Amino acid sequence: MARKKLIAGNWKMNETLPEAVVLTQEISNIFEKDWLETVDVCICPPYIDLKPAKTVLDFDHLGIAVGAQNVFYEPKGAYTGEISVPMIKEVGCTYCIVGHSERRTLFGETNEDVNLKAKALLADGLSPIICVGESLEVREGGAYLDYVCAQVRAAYAGIAEAEAKDTVVAYEPIWAIGTGRTATPEQAEEVCAAIRETLTELYDQSVADTIRVLYGGSMNEGNAEMLLAMANIDGGLIGGASLKAQSFVAIVQAAL
Ligand code: 13P
Repeated sequence: MARKKLIAGNWKMNETLPEAVVLTQEISNIFEKDWLETVDVCICPPYIDLKPAKTVLDFDHLGIAVGAQNVFYEPKGAYTGEISVPMIKEVGCTYCIVGHSERRTLFGETNEDVNLKAKALLADGLSPIICVGESLEVREGGAYLDYVCAQVRAAYAGIAEAEAKDTVVAYEPIWAIGTGRTATPEQAEEVCAAIRETLTELYDQSVADTIRVLYGGSMNEGNAEMLLAMANIDGGLIGGASLKAQSFVAIVQAAL
């Protein structure tokens, strides 16, 4: 089944407000609207850059989506420093990354947190981009498929079929993130296929066929085409290369 590819840029903790406006404008300037008929595109700047980035995109009438990099699952209240789903929705986000490995390893986010965040997003009509992926230690131990598929099962606990269709999974092997050591297309495909198999077990083939599974980890304009050619890789979650307009747009073009 043909799934529309999704290219999402995860800016991580980069770009001050004026820098974010410049980067968004640069992307917009070299972007061709027609591409969005074939590929969905999303940028995920830091929270305080979301509104200005969205304003630039709206001004240019581009259908590039905006997503947050994280969210808290409670709608409001005494949670100092947190940002809620209604808050990111209000500034125009339609996607939100959850469970990025940096949040899991540096900020102690658990599978349960990831599940609660995904459910809160879906309840408000946003699409979670659920990140999973193994460390180098787990990969070298050999049980990486079990590890990643267990993360998928935990993330989808209690999510109904109708909502599951609005989710996205991003397979990001930790050993490939920011290291320049990309997974080979075959390595990435093996895990993305296992993720789809797990989604088929949790739901059914037709649901699993609608959920996009992205690859992330040192994806760039040089390797994107080969990775995106694999049957179960439906797009990319791009870190470093999403901070340069030319590189990010070249990856979008590789998905056309
Ligand atoms: P890099 O593309 O910089 O390796 O980052 C990948 C990533 O973590 C995207 O979420």
